[in-house]
Amino acid sequence: MGYVGVTTGLVFAELGWKVTGLDTDALKIQSLSEGKLSFYEPGLDILLSQHLQSDNIRFTSDPIQAIREHSVIFLCVGTPSDINGSADLQYVRNVAEHIGTNMNDYKLVAVKSTVPIDTNRKVRQWIREAQTSPHPFDVVSNPEFLREGSALYDSLHPDRIIIGSNSKQAVDTLKTLYRSINAPVLVTKPKTAEMIKYASNAFLATKISYVNELSRLCDKIGVNISDVTKGMGMDHRIGPHFLRAGIGYGGSCFPKDSKALLYTAKENDIQLSILEKVTEVNNSQASYFLNVWEEKLGGFDHRTIAILGISFKPNTDDLREAPSLAIMQHLLEKQAILRVHDPIAKLPSYLQGEFVQQFDSLEDTLDGADAIILCSEWTDYIGANWSQLRSVMGDYFIFDGRNKLDGKSLTDLGFYYYGIGNR
Ligand code: UDX
Repeated sequence: MGYVGVTTGLVFAELGWKVTGLDTDALKIQSLSEGKLSFYEPGLDILLSQHLQSDNIRFTSDPIQAIREHSVIFLCVGTPSDINGSADLQYVRNVAEHIGTNMNDYKLVAVKSTVPIDTNRKVRQWIREAQTSPHPFDVVSNPEFLREGSALYDSLHPDRIIIGSNSKQAVDTLKTLYRSINAPVLVTKPKTAEMIKYASNAFLATKISYVNELSRLCDKIGVNISDVTKGMGMDHRIGPHFLRAGIGYGGSCFPKDSKALLYTAKENDIQLSILEKVTEVNNSQASYFLNVWEEKLGGFDHRTIAILGISFKPNTDDLREAPSLAIMQHLLEKQAILRVHDPIAKLPSYLQGEFVQQFDSLEDTLDGADAIILCSEWTDYIGANWSQLRSVMGDYFIFDGRNKLDGKSLTDLGFYYYGIGNR
């Protein structure tokens, strides 16, 4: 019952199926049963209370009950990065063994977690080895493509449904489960489905790093990267999405999945040199622009900097791999004083201290600040009353790390506006 599990469960409940959410964390199960989510995601809280009431969903920490009462099991556990960059499969294995031990008749096990290529085969093996009697089962790869912040919309309106399986019975069952969703279904071999997930995430990361690296050149030669990507995106072969330059991608997927794919390639003696560069550009993008901005401001030391939006993207409280964290760390090393704001996310305890403070209102955050660094583009900032906010600031620098503010209007109001590859 992490991010993907809760969303998947609620979406199937919404589609009219009877769902049980299973997790070993009894406290989490209790909160979910009381209608409380452990993370922020627009729209999910309403769906949770509706489907608790309609009895389409319930939650348990009892694996025996959950496994025996259901013919289809979605495996949605995390696959965090191991120290060497590979995906840690201990949770996947644990669940597979539980299923093997407790199954009482045919089960369809659908793997939603992002797992390395060939995990489907391993899951089959782990289930088989744990079985006490030889009940039949299928393991299907059914990767998830939802984005945090728009998880519900993405799950109900996916661009495609990928089903990786060699079993017609399993494919037909999954097609039935998804029948009210209007999306093309692509049936592939399990390994191919696993690869599609990694290849898609790595490609999106590549698009971002490509424009991020170009933004450095644009910044130098006085060309606006946002105008360039607008023109590029009008070409259907390129498309307008994931071409927004910024301080780099974060989140639970792109950094981790790129690492895992690189690890798989290395294991197979293949060098994915483009993806290596993608990661490298992402790791240096925020510091590249911090250096540019430091020069504009005339140094960060003892300057008061307002950090707006610390989550890795808007509409989530998720701080995993958020570029804001590295930015704040860097600024503290430069002896800046930080005033932080985020509509939902809370400053992690390791960053709290004498020189960093989080405020509830934008006005309090900007009080006396010399400069603003926008790290994630919540609508609160885009729609803010900037002329009023300017009056509480000490100096008037805006560094827009997401190229989302209206630089022209801000300049007219008397701000010094600098974006990413966009002066
Ligand atoms: C991603 C994939 O989009 C999704 O399909 C997959 O299932 C999980 O990983 P997510 O990480 O939730 O989803 O968010 P996404 O909207 O993809 O953004 C990831 C990061 O890229 C964010 O930090 C975002 O700010 C950044 N980004 C995105 C850019 O810097 N530029 C863009 O043009 C788009």
